[in-house]
Amino acid sequence: MPNPLLSRARDILKANDLGTYTVPTHGLYPFQWNWDSCLTALGQAHFDEARAWTEIETLFEHQWEDGMVPHIVFHKEDEGYFPGPDVWNTKRPVPTSGITQPPVAGFTVRRLFERARDRDLADRKVRALLPKIHAWHEWFYRCRDPQKTGVVAVIHPWETGRDNSIDWDDAFSKVPTDGVVPFIRRDTQHANPDHRPTQDQYERYIWLVQAFRNLNWDNTVLHDHSPFRVVDPGFNAILLRSCSDIAALAEELGEIKIAQQSRQRVAAGASALEALWNDDLGQYVCYDRVAGEQIKSASVAGLLAAFAPIPEERMQGLASRIRKLAQTSRYAVPSHDPADPRFDGARYWRGPVWLIVNYMIADGLARQNQTDVAESIVNSSISLIEDSGFAEYYDPITGEPCGGLEFTWTAAMVIEFLSLSATTLEDLKAASGLTNPNEIPIVK
Ligand code: DGY
Repeated sequence: MPNPLLSRARDILKANDLGTYTVPTHGLYPFQWNWDSCLTALGQAHFDEARAWTEIETLFEHQWEDGMVPHIVFHKEDEGYFPGPDVWNTKRPVPTSGITQPPVAGFTVRRLFERARDRDLADRKVRALLPKIHAWHEWFYRCRDPQKTGVVAVIHPWETGRDNSIDWDDAFSKVPTDGVVPFIRRDTQHANPDHRPTQDQYERYIWLVQAFRNLNWDNTVLHDHSPFRVVDPGFNAILLRSCSDIAALAEELGEIKIAQQSRQRVAAGASALEALWNDDLGQYVCYDRVAGEQIKSASVAGLLAAFAPIPEERMQGLASRIRKLAQTSRYAVPSHDPADPRFDGARYWRGPVWLIVNYMIADGLARQNQTDVAESIVNSSISLIEDSGFAEYYDPITGEPCGGLEFTWTAAMVIEFLSLSATTLEDLKAASGLTNPNEIPIVK
């Protein structure tokens, strides 16, 4: 009897698949989102490797000439989303947004390559994608780290994916709202407004979009002109992991220059990350580049640093921090510490659990020998899905499903988590129609 979660996850991936890209969920997010697509490909690959490669290729077809890979590709019109292409006005042949998102592509592509059942296909795809991913990474260091500190800043909360994190509260309060053209939000028509960012936050999001649009989306000036410039440890950890993963791929494929440059980025970035460690909180924290100080806020971004190659002592620190959080939260890992009075269990990134974050944290912990904590995150994630279905995110205390439902990357992560368990390998094989018992390797 196949695991019902697995068939459900596969149905969701299929229902949200528009052929060459996958929407995160119908209604709330009707286009292609950057990191959603990359993480989705990991789930798709279990059933259809060619489809998984297409997901990433489609995204990179819309890479900008300067190397940036945008956070949204507006493949076709949909009135149900705000801000749409006319607000961004990036003047691309196929409209895109003008900011980026966490660069998980390098990590994903290595994982797809390592697990590939069709080696020739994987080899061809990686050879074509590698220089593009590298160009994106180089864009980050050129345009988002002009002072060459080793870590990159984000210039809009949407870039981090953690739109309304408590981390941004102070830095974001300095973004004005005057001159924002009146707008109608669409997100609150699809999802419970109590689960979404506030109107005040939306006005600031749009102020930034208008300001960058007035600068013609010129990435050589946006960083220095933005009143919001924050260094996020989770975001940088994803970038470092992707640099390290494409370095390994490049070495394997004989792309020496990409390998060397990526290794140098990892060395510089890993040592610069150290400045984001906060002893009082026992984790990494964000850094406000405008104010020139650490942001003392205990969010999951500081735990997501486990995804990068960090010193063993730091990894142990993060593991014990996650164990402590488990005492105050029914489900791992809350996106903000429930002990903080600003914690809000249902409001997007101010408390809820996100499966993609759990996946990356667990992966990082497992790689550096913190297997017990990694396993507890995986087990907690699976019970959450059993209890609450395939939502966008969940209240860590009550398990309430929040935001959008039938969510693509949640389904993809469930497939990944289930593939960790040997007993579900049989189910995966049955559900995918594969016959060779060695075709689906266990996640490393
Ligand atoms: C949204 O619309 O909520 C997204 O997070 C922005 O990309």
